[in-house]
Amino acid sequence: MIQIHDKHFDIFIDQETLEARIAKLAEQIDHDYAGRCPLLIAVLNGSFLFVAELMKNIRIDCEITFIRLNSYEGTGTTGKVKQILGLSEEISGRDVVIIEDIVDTGHTMAELLGQVTAKKPRSIEIATMLHKPEATRIPVTLKYVGFAIENKFVLGYGLDYDGLGRNLPCIYQLAE
Ligand code: IMP
Repeated sequence: MIQIHDKHFDIFIDQETLEARIAKLAEQIDHDYAGRCPLLIAVLNGSFLFVAELMKNIRIDCEITFIRLNSYEGTGTTGKVKQILGLSEEISGRDVVIIEDIVDTGHTMAELLGQVTAKKPRSIEIATMLHKPEATRIPVTLKYVGFAIENKFVLGYGLDYDGLGRNLPCIYQLAE
């Protein structure tokens, strides 16, 4: 068991299991995008280790770019609106794969999908290291999912708790 800030966490997915699964996702991408040079769009900060491991295992030609989401209070009915920062690449006509650390309620991904789709890529799919199906409020189609997990807070492998824990080489879960 480890402690981060005030909370205790137990190991949940070890590094070997996690990286073996990520290698499988890379194999699927190799197969699905053969001859198409996909553009990976990784959402910072949380996806940086996942996308590094994924990309190391992809054998076909591919490119990468990084974006951040700026959260601000909107005046519309949705309340919080997130805006993409850093997407300078021309993506119209590209085969895009959005890379996320975790899909929880689905709000972030739904917003992102809408904004990236508006830039007219040829195709768009999502790869997420983790998915919490029970927490999902806005259904989005997730083509590549590392692990579907229960609705408990997790950290490590890029995911943080209040800034800490991103450097942990495996996934930890909040202890009971
Ligand atoms: P969503 O919009 O609710 O799907 O939230 C997605 C974002 O919330 C992720 O990109 C993470 O940054 C963060 N998040 C959701 N669940 C967790 C968790 O269990 N641990 C750490 N961060 C999380």
